[in-house]
Amino acid sequence: MTSLQGELKWWQSGIIYQIYPRSYQDSNGDGVGDLPGITARLPYVASLGVQAVWLSPIFKSPMRDFGYDVADYCDIDPVFGTLEQFDALVAEAHRLGLKVMLDYVPNHTSSDHAWFQEALTGKASAKRDWYVWRDPAPDGGLPNNWKSFFGGPAWTLDEASGQYYLHQFLPSQPDLNWRNPDVRAAMFDVLRFWMRRGVDGFRVDVIWLLAEDERFLDEPENPDADREVVGGQIEHSTLLHIYTQDQPETHDYVREMRRVIDEFDDRMMVGEIYLPLDKLLPYSGTPEAPMVHLPFNFHLILLPWDAQTIRQFADEYDAASNAAGAWPNWVLGNHDQHRFKTRVGAAQYRVAQTLLLTLRGTPTVYYGDEIGMENVPVPPEKMVDPSGLQQPDSPDAGRDPERTPMQWEAAPGAGFTAAGTEPWLPLTDNFAQVNVQVQEQDSQSDLNYFRALTRLRQEQPALVGGSYRSLDSGHADVFAFERELNGERLTVWLNFRGEERAVAATGQTLLSSRGDQPAAQSPLRGHEARVVLG
Ligand code: NOJ
Repeated sequence: MTSLQGELKWWQSGIIYQIYPRSYQDSNGDGVGDLPGITARLPYVASLGVQAVWLSPIFKSPMRDFGYDVADYCDIDPVFGTLEQFDALVAEAHRLGLKVMLDYVPNHTSSDHAWFQEALTGKASAKRDWYVWRDPAPDGGLPNNWKSFFGGPAWTLDEASGQYYLHQFLPSQPDLNWRNPDVRAAMFDVLRFWMRRGVDGFRVDVIWLLAEDERFLDEPENPDADREVVGGQIEHSTLLHIYTQDQPETHDYVREMRRVIDEFDDRMMVGEIYLPLDKLLPYSGTPEAPMVHLPFNFHLILLPWDAQTIRQFADEYDAASNAAGAWPNWVLGNHDQHRFKTRVGAAQYRVAQTLLLTLRGTPTVYYGDEIGMENVPVPPEKMVDPSGLQQPDSPDAGRDPERTPMQWEAAPGAGFTAAGTEPWLPLTDNFAQVNVQVQEQDSQSDLNYFRALTRLRQEQPALVGGSYRSLDSGHADVFAFERELNGERLTVWLNFRGEERAVAATGQTLLSSRGDQPAAQSPLRGHEARVVLG
């Protein structure tokens, strides 16, 4: 599809930058990041050339899942600050030309939420049906075999009433009953509350899980369980989730949610969806009945890091997005996945970064990836993530290593927190070398390479609005593609191996991951990424 940049919306032409608020900037010396800290760092965010910041949850929460367990959707947790400080953050972001996106968690509340507390008062409670309750099985056991993502059953017994309630995550994260229109109305008012406060968009947590099949049948065993472990969820992967995921009613609710977003000008939502391509793209909806603006495409995270595999997926995804009239998007990292530099290896880091920022579609960047942050080993006594703590036999289930504090400078506390304060998660050992301050001063740093890529996107409209076509590079380990707009053509050459590869590139090299500007036709060096004009 050839589109003109001027016709694109901000969430199509821009880059989304995800901030995990606990780890960005601590302003009050308690070892946990907060809103004034983020506000103070917004000029840095703007300097990256990104368009929007997405904040992981900042709402009132007992923090058993670090904010993905919301106790009040319309207030800020004191650890992060106040509503006034949030307003100041939005004002400063807008002054800098940045959009603000919040994390909307509609599938479940915290068990501390007033709605659930009221539901617990008994079967006659007005809020009882706001959650999903089942009687025990005839033998007195669990209602069915459904499992929590974090291991163990998806049901917990409420002893007072003798009924079980559903939770796809922790027992302290009861699932809301989206079949109940009052629940939908209340949750849609939450969106309106934040949009009225100036919020530009939402990342919607586990949007593909909103509804469950009403028959509550057992889910079948997954014959491919060994191969399909996502994010270390070993036990959860043993079932095929045909009754708890991607239900027809979920599509209805997402369409309804979209109508609420469209009550306000120029807002958007991106849905968290871990599904194969044929089930993912339908979440864009149709022109008559749109759904999410962007269904997160996590395939760069899930696929093996191999040039052929990625080329094939990029071809299929681009063609399918065009056919569906959907805008594509790409993700390399987030707070649930190991750091991409650790996943693909340090040598491939810039190849991956170049891919993310030159493919057709909106890139989402996870904080710290622009300076090459890697997984930080967290010793058992410092682990806090419930997913890791509940699944000790699964080495990949813990998400602490990718959530550690941002590395700003070589000083004690890394510029994240006050000297002498222990941050909520440990800092990496090498923060004195890998940090923003050091990299600002080095024209060859990862940070400046990231900025060179975002500058290139601004200077070359073909990289943003141009069509995509993969090229036959002549090598199984070189992925090459072109982006074209109104006769302007760029080609991108990515060497997935350490050996030099001769390529048939012509034109002028605009950028190389090696920091120089080799002739376009010169062989690609090992692990080199190159963007060529012409
Ligand atoms: C997906 C979020 O990304 C993850 O961090 C969280 O634990 C679960 N949803 C539950 O909300």
